[in-house]
Amino acid sequence: MIFYFSGTGNTRWAAEQLAEATGEHLVAIADATAGSCTYTLQPGERVGFCFPVHGWQPPRIVRQFIRRLQLKYAEGARPYCYALVTCGDSIGRTMEMLNSELRAVGLQTDSIFSLVMPESYVCLPFMYTDSPAREQSKIATAQQQLTQYADLIVRRVGSECHTQRGLTPWLFSHVIGAYFNRYMITDKKFTVDADICIRCGKCVKACPTGNLTMSIDRDNALPQWHHDGSCTNCLACYHYCPRHAINYGNITRKRGQYFFGHNKKT
Ligand SMILES: Cc1cc2nc3c(=O)[nH]c(=O)nc-3n(C[C@H](O)[C@H](O)[C@H](O)COP(=O)(O)O)c2cc1C
Repeated sequence: MIFYFSGTGNTRWAAEQLAEATGEHLVAIADATAGSCTYTLQPGERVGFCFPVHGWQPPRIVRQFIRRLQLKYAEGARPYCYALVTCGDSIGRTMEMLNSELRAVGLQTDSIFSLVMPESYVCLPFMYTDSPAREQSKIATAQQQLTQYADLIVRRVGSECHTQRGLTPWLFSHVIGAYFNRYMITDKKFTVDADICIRCGKCVKACPTGNLTMSIDRDNALPQWHHDGSCTNCLACYHYCPRHAINYGNITRKRGQYFFGHNKKT
């Protein structure tokens, strides 16, 4: 069983390949949180956690899901457990934080992996999407690594650690990331430009947590964020908008947009 969360599709792309390689099925964490979070593993079934790093930490939705997770498996048969995290650059101490959540529910990772993928965070002055060449090269490298990781996972190899923790991981996860996740994850800064929005509803469909609905505004449907704490700031609404009508404060107006597969011809 593979539990995954993805905003702009990088992690879904990786998780789908792991599902294919292992023959085990995918569970979207964002959908699972609406239910009881109770799952029964088949004998010998592995358990994987795949998600993007958010502020050098596991996204809040992933941590909340694990706190509610009840996994049933045969007594004495602790499943092979792995985690794969995607990032734009580095993950800091995300895996240590994940493992402390997992320990509380009787699990721990046997092997851990990360993939550097195209950048999706664009809401700070120094944050930009990658150039097309860098995007392509990140995906090509990630594809090679993923094939290698999938092989290790299929063979249930333990003690494998293939992660990009970056410089000063403690500082990034526990100081900068702690501030970021405490104060900067909010949907209150999203705006939609009514003159540019074509009311296609792609933002509503893209939001993994269902935090957006179309409202009636001056007789025109416009996307509206719920402001109920469910937003993870994955930026799917921003990136999937075909007109760049959605922004986060003023900073993203001149930023690029990205989602996995955006350059594929349809
Ligand atoms: C809110 C947010 C925070 C992020 N924080 C980090 C980070 O701390 N380090 C990093 O390397 N990438 C960071 N990123 C980039 C994503 O982790 C990366 O692009 C990831 O592959 C996106 O996965 P997804 O497409 O499955 O959502 C962040 C992205 C978002 C939206």
